[in-house]
Amino acid sequence: MSAVMNVSYDTQIPNNVNLSSDRRVLKALEKWHPGYLNWWNDLIPDQFQQSLVYLRTAVSVDPKGWAKFDYVKMPEYRWGVLLAPQNEERTIPCGEHKGEPAWQEVPGEYRAMLRRLIVIQGDTEPASVEQQRHLGITAPSLYDMRNLFQVNVEEGRHLWAMVYLLHKYFGKDGREEADDMLRRSSGSEEAPRMLGAFNEATPDWLSFFMFTYFTDRDGKMQLESLAQSGFDPLSRTCRFMLTEEAHHMFVGETGVGRTIQKTCEAMNEAGITDPYDINKIRDLGVIDLPTIQKKANMHYSLSLDLFGSEVSTNAANAFNAGIKARYMETKIDDDHQLQGQDYRVRRFLDGKIVEEEVPALSAINMRLRDDYVRDASGGIKRWNAAIKKTGIEFEIKLPHEGFHRQIGEFASASITPEGDIISADAWATRRNEWLPSDADGDYIKSLMVPVTEPGKYASWIAPPRIGIDNQPGDFEYVKLHMA
Ligand SMILES: [Fe+2]
Ligand SMILES: [Fe+2]
Repeated sequence: MSAVMNVSYDTQIPNNVNLSSDRRVLKALEKWHPGYLNWWNDLIPDQFQQSLVYLRTAVSVDPKGWAKFDYVKMPEYRWGVLLAPQNEERTIPCGEHKGEPAWQEVPGEYRAMLRRLIVIQGDTEPASVEQQRHLGITAPSLYDMRNLFQVNVEEGRHLWAMVYLLHKYFGKDGREEADDMLRRSSGSEEAPRMLGAFNEATPDWLSFFMFTYFTDRDGKMQLESLAQSGFDPLSRTCRFMLTEEAHHMFVGETGVGRTIQKTCEAMNEAGITDPYDINKIRDLGVIDLPTIQKKANMHYSLSLDLFGSEVSTNAANAFNAGIKARYMETKIDDDHQLQGQDYRVRRFLDGKIVEEEVPALSAINMRLRDDYVRDASGGIKRWNAAIKKTGIEFEIKLPHEGFHRQIGEFASASITPEGDIISADAWATRRNEWLPSDADGDYIKSLMVPVTEPGKYASWIAPPRIGIDNQPGDFEYVKLHMA
């Protein structure tokens, strides 16, 4: 077992899949590698390519020993192919093949479906690095800069993970799909990324934290359901990715939390009790809570869109095939085939929001989104507890699921964060009450001044409670190299 779990560094591409004896795939990946490095080098500003970043790297995939911290120049980061260990007894957890041994090769009848799921997942990984490419130069501290780069190199590794599956299991069209991953680019007119939220800008650090909190969490839910896949190599790949994903959500939750903390502390010091006294609060160089709420509204609604249509035949087919399961599939107490079962869905019909029971098989996306909302509400509770502790009266709330949607049942509806249906005109007039306006964006941008002295933080964000890898407060997380 340990031979499988330890990462081998004997080829250019660190891996625990015995690449050195799989010449065909090794060659294909080595051919893909220079294009990947070009992509990375074009993306991250020069001054950071040469800087030494205190990063964690996987040395093995078992829960305790996989993270090792050291200073690395990012282009020299050893992006590798890492799969969780194989469980010989594993069976297909759901659908019409439930109970059969998990597939070690691609089942012919599901090849196209499987390839598409892998490509969509793979496409999001480099997209987020592209969206975050300008943030290094305005990092509020070296600690935050290091966290950004950690997230970036790991998203890069997630791309490797999906590209490995394409090369290993999908022959010529897998190779073409792998090349296309580097051809598409976030926000591009000609070749955009596949999903909407991944073509939006990440203009400032608060957006980055909201993105890692809300959008990476969609990623987590997708990976959770792919980790249950009957196609075992995909399952093993996603299981390991999830261990990395946890850190991304930590960065998001604590990033927003520290922003809120600083705002509340500054208000208290200045004797301001009204959270809507926005001009006075902004004079303190912090981000007012109503603007933080608007950012949450934005990123939450974009992330809900990523779950696709509430009622979906594609999702039903993937479940039935055993290719993509539900969140925690093996822990659910039912037949795992959903015969004759219903699931409650909110729909927008004749101008009204109605609840409807639909066949559970067709509501797989809805169910995953419900699980997501539950998962996302934990951090909100902790943010609100922190606000309450400072004595300020304000609560961050998740907006109604129909608010600001582009995909699914509510795409055609104009709904307020409270869930009221209004006219499209009224919605447009009130938009800036709910979503960041240009002026909000300009104000936040004005705060985005880099702070590069170890242990120091920008005006708008509190220091973390503990350092990464338990390092002390003034630790130099990035050794900058100024050309
Ligand atoms: Fe990822
Ligand atoms: Fe992530």
